[in-house]
Amino acid sequence: MSRPKIALIGGGQIGGNLALLAAQKELGDIVIFDIPKAEGMVKGKALDIMQLRPHDGYDADISGTSNWNDVKDADIFIITAGIPRKPGMNREDLLGINLGIMKDVATNIKEQAPNAFVIVISNPLDAMVYAFHKVAGFSKKMVVGMAGALDSARFRTFIAMETGCSVQDVTCMVLGGHGDTMVPVTRLATVGGVPVEELIPSNRLEKIVNRTRFAGGEIVKLFGNGSAFYAPAQSAIEIAESYLRDKKRVIPCASLCEGEFGVDGYFIGVPSVIGAGGVERILEFELKEDEKAALNNTLEAVKKTVAETGL
Ligand code: APR
Repeated sequence: MSRPKIALIGGGQIGGNLALLAAQKELGDIVIFDIPKAEGMVKGKALDIMQLRPHDGYDADISGTSNWNDVKDADIFIITAGIPRKPGMNREDLLGINLGIMKDVATNIKEQAPNAFVIVISNPLDAMVYAFHKVAGFSKKMVVGMAGALDSARFRTFIAMETGCSVQDVTCMVLGGHGDTMVPVTRLATVGGVPVEELIPSNRLEKIVNRTRFAGGEIVKLFGNGSAFYAPAQSAIEIAESYLRDKKRVIPCASLCEGEFGVDGYFIGVPSVIGAGGVERILEFELKEDEKAALNNTLEAVKKTVAETGL
């Protein structure tokens, strides 16, 4: 059986790490696509990763290109095409530039691989995943935005740092949009099954929630130029692996809700079962009043950025 074909649209910071992680996990053959100006850069990255394979003994093929024909019939696309946030910019500031790029990317993917599974990472995520879906017209099961996986990983990291317990034993969920209004659900966060609300004083927990909300911006400020890339790449790979290996992991992803959690017609972060069928199911559950209010608040923010796309 041939290896799955993985197309990475955008071969910058996140794209390069996606290629490395996908190769190391032997998820399939990898094509890194970028604009003609960056073709040498992605060809170079591909060759560099090809040359580290002998150490690990994996055989996946990695190539770089700026020719859309080379991603024909890919099984999965991970899109990072666009510009990253600069200091002082919020994700919404990126909208104008990245929307034009996303429309072009969606049109080309539709032409090259109409049955692929697509993970969108480009920011502002909530608007970009919506735009991709609108322009490409793919089934809602085949399109997700990578947001909650990263936001939850950040929340888990800060809880592990606070409690001194293994990050592996921290579980939690961040719902809603991938902006400052996201909803880290403290009630459902646990350390080894013990509710964090019983382990961490409420004032400290509030600080952790806020740090999670602004975690992307914290890194943007530290970098001075560009945004986070290691954790975003790993978060998307988790989704890709669950799809390609039919793991049916439950991952908070920006999925198209049609009534779930009272949301209709928007991509928003919800617990999603990712398997061979794409987004196979959204796990809906009863929210408390304050959580409902927080979700409504984030939904309003998502609606606002989606409205700005004019789609
Ligand atoms: N088609 C393909 N690639 C494109 C296009 C296009 N039309 N336009 C730009 N790119 C490429 C750039 O040439 C660059 O190599 O997208 C890549 C983006 O890489 P970086 O600038 O390094 O950005 P990165 O840190 O990887 O973040 C990418 O993900 O998290 C989001 O906010 C982030 O929107 C940003 C995206």
